[in-house]
Amino acid sequence: MAEPLKAVRGMHDILPDATPAWQFVEQTITAILQRYGYQEIRLPVLEKTELFERSIGEETDIVSKEMYTFTDRSGESLTLRPEGTAGGVRAGLEHGLFHNTSRRLWYMGPMFRHERPQKGRTRQFHQIGVEAFGLAGADVDAELIIMCARFWRELGLDGLQLEINTLGTPESRQQYRRVLTDYFRDHKDKLDEDSRRRLDSNPLRILDSKNKELRGLIEAAPVMTDYLDTESLDHFTRLKELIDAAGVAYRFNPRLVRGLDYYNRTVFEWLTDKLGAQGAVCAGGRYDGLVEYFGGKPTPAIGFAMGLERLIGLLEASEASYDTPQPHVYFVVAGETAVDAAMRLAEECRDRLPALRLLMHCGGGSLKSQFKKADKSGADIAVILGDEEVRRRVAAIKPLRMDGEQIEVDWAALPGTLEQMLRL
Ligand code: HAM
Repeated sequence: MAEPLKAVRGMHDILPDATPAWQFVEQTITAILQRYGYQEIRLPVLEKTELFERSIGEETDIVSKEMYTFTDRSGESLTLRPEGTAGGVRAGLEHGLFHNTSRRLWYMGPMFRHERPQKGRTRQFHQIGVEAFGLAGADVDAELIIMCARFWRELGLDGLQLEINTLGTPESRQQYRRVLTDYFRDHKDKLDEDSRRRLDSNPLRILDSKNKELRGLIEAAPVMTDYLDTESLDHFTRLKELIDAAGVAYRFNPRLVRGLDYYNRTVFEWLTDKLGAQGAVCAGGRYDGLVEYFGGKPTPAIGFAMGLERLIGLLEASEASYDTPQPHVYFVVAGETAVDAAMRLAEECRDRLPALRLLMHCGGGSLKSQFKKADKSGADIAVILGDEEVRRRVAAIKPLRMDGEQIEVDWAALPGTLEQMLRL
């Protein structure tokens, strides 16, 4: 017999037992986004490869080794999106969304990176991303961070630490980059292979190295803040004042650099130590130059994205509580004439009680087997209809997970009785 087919490595099914947690996270966060005035944008999963090469940067890990890139049937090079910011900028420019106005947007969906799968790291993963365009001040940077703190609070997550840094302007970073390159070149013999490769292409990323043997060298390296322009420093000071005033705790990490090239000024990450090695749950920063780089008018921008797999991992680790919606009513139907009447009655109940979750038994079978299913469904109540009840135009109501005796009601009284019993 042939081996059963399996999902692609690093791409996971999210099974019915797991979806309530996903729905809770998605609904909580998107409701908060709406309360802050952010609008949803839906973007294609496929984009031209060039979009990511030019925005994320050719030397980054994402572009140089992790993209799912292929040539389509028309000979065009396309890539499954590894993130959402580039597509957001592309769509905004294509549809004139940034003309003379600011925009606060969010998106949600799968992203793809060919990384080595491990706990908290998958090849298809899901993000909710948030992007604010056309706003230059530190106020919006603070708004995003304060909004994140609200996400965690309302989700019931604990143990998330905020790290912030500023990367300055491209010019001031260039100067720092030269100093840093000289420093690492003087210690080239101590660098590992990866860091040597980055020495010329992207020396800032050496600061991000996970190699413990480099820790001492990295800690003694020159710090970016000493080379920043005053405007970027002022921006950063203002941001810190605003988040201090909001009571959001943070750690200044001068070595926080981010793995994508488009950032300037503010960068930040929310980290946890509850998920093992993959501790970054949410990350982002300013990318003031990206819209102009793609041919638009100068448009400041800032955003971040959260990894939903990691958020859900943290939800479980935090033992946060959320609803797992089970049916209120299981409709037991015994007998030939009962099916027609039950179908009609169920629709009447659904019309009258929009909050009601009613699971209709389909497929016949003995009363005993239907009650087994009713019990397994987690329903609070069974409504029972047999030929005898149909003849007398009544239905039986049997509490399964509530106190009380079995009762009988007229059909006309069924919705009202359920409403009362279930407090809908
Ligand atoms: P990023 O840091 O590459 O930034 O990804 C953001 C988040 O996505 C990470 O903090 C992590 O939670 C999650 N994530 C990334 N890769 C994986 C993976 N392989 N498996 C599971 N989760 C993952 C961005 O994507 C930027 N576009 C964020 C941004 C928006 N910056 C400005 N605007």
